[in-house]
Amino acid sequence: MRTNRVLTVAAAALTALSLAPAALAAPHRPTPGAAGGGDPYFPRQGNGGYDVSSYRLAIGYTPSSKRLTGHARITARATQSLSRFDLDLRRTLTVSSVRVDGRRAAFSQPAAQVQELVVTPRHALRAGHRFSVEVRYAGTATPTTDPDGSLDGFIPTSDGAFVASEPQGSPTWFPVNDTPRDKARYAVSVTVPKGLTAVSNGRFVAHRTHGAATTWSWRLDRPVSSYLVTATLGKFDVTRGRTPAGVPYFVAVDPTQAAKANPVLAKLPSIVDWLARTYGRYPFGETGAIVDDAPNVGYALETATRPVFDRAPSVGTLAHELAHQWYGDTVTLRQWRDIWLNEGFAEFSTWLYTEHTGGKTTAQQLADLEALPADDDVWSPPPGNPGSGADIFAGSVYDRGAATLAALRAEVGDHVFFRIMRGWLRQHYYGNAAVGQFTAYAGRVAHTDLTAFFQTWLYHDGKPAFS
Ligand code: ARG
Ligand code: ZN
Repeated sequence: MRTNRVLTVAAAALTALSLAPAALAAPHRPTPGAAGGGDPYFPRQGNGGYDVSSYRLAIGYTPSSKRLTGHARITARATQSLSRFDLDLRRTLTVSSVRVDGRRAAFSQPAAQVQELVVTPRHALRAGHRFSVEVRYAGTATPTTDPDGSLDGFIPTSDGAFVASEPQGSPTWFPVNDTPRDKARYAVSVTVPKGLTAVSNGRFVAHRTHGAATTWSWRLDRPVSSYLVTATLGKFDVTRGRTPAGVPYFVAVDPTQAAKANPVLAKLPSIVDWLARTYGRYPFGETGAIVDDAPNVGYALETATRPVFDRAPSVGTLAHELAHQWYGDTVTLRQWRDIWLNEGFAEFSTWLYTEHTGGKTTAQQLADLEALPADDDVWSPPPGNPGSGADIFAGSVYDRGAATLAALRAEVGDHVFFRIMRGWLRQHYYGNAAVGQFTAYAGRVAHTDLTAFFQTWLYHDGKPAFS
């Protein structure tokens, strides 16, 4: 009888399950995490079903062979009941083992997908469960090429590697939930041939030499997006100190760049302190810079706490990357379409620094731009909607993007403008935001309807109408 009753109930439940729409059954039944985060520009970036809190990466690299080895330990929390999940890792790196919560897990790197590592744990992961993933992998360092043609990720140089991963390079060197929305803490150690220096983000922990190899260890205690992590290595001269306001810095300079870079880097402490006075407290525990000699790269990147430069930077570029520590690294875009929140703000900060040091005011810079003809490249694409991944770093996102803030400053006056700039950060410390949130916030602080203003500056095709 009893058996019968159970059977009947089970049969009824089965019928109910098969009739229920999938969405109703989903919360209880473990299902695979999504293979992408759904960004319209980079749909495969990131994954669904979990949220990473920290990465512990042990990287090994030999410049002569370009051989890269890695051991990643990831701590995450399941946001759904998971039968399996993906990490982003390029197939140029071959995985040899994966463990979930210490136990061997099945995995595959499907040939049809360039950067999915599919992990099937022995048991499904309950929603809310905190779990660890350990991945061992190795391969030949191979950067990726972005839609705009530039190299991205782990980029070999003559004496080491330049590591810069915006917007999609991180999976060329570690397994990652590569969406800017999944911020995490990082502990990175890099083992290199003795005599080379490896520089990552955050606090310098130690370097230890065993025989012919040195391991450099770093720790970043604030959560950042994966595109902001570096492990740049090579021959470097190191300078350490504190800014006048007390922020510790670690500056690494390729000796070939020292003569040009050092006079510029001498301004780093005062720029960091000036930015903190202008926008609010410095958001990280350390600062610095990495100046490499990587002529095939062609850009600098605001890697967290310590931007990386492909060559000796100008003062303007240094100020730009340092300003990103606030706009970009602390408040970060939600989707790549929101790139103006990064580049427009950093470039405006360069303009503001020029004004601060006695050069042109931001109003004069704005007037100079206004003088450019309607068919100048500076006007398109519109910074609020660059249109595709190929245009996220278009000149207009920077210059028309900076002009937008210069025009806002002129429109609302200094007092309100800087309240907007500082308040915006306070609302989103260590978080993500979209352009629409900024424009709405600015309007609220200014007590003005700025809809038409931002529509013209950020979204109008072609030269905005100057008023
Ligand atoms: N965010 C960098 C900057 O501060 C630019 C990165 C360009 N990256 C690229 N893959 N094109 O300007
Ligand atoms: Zn920038």
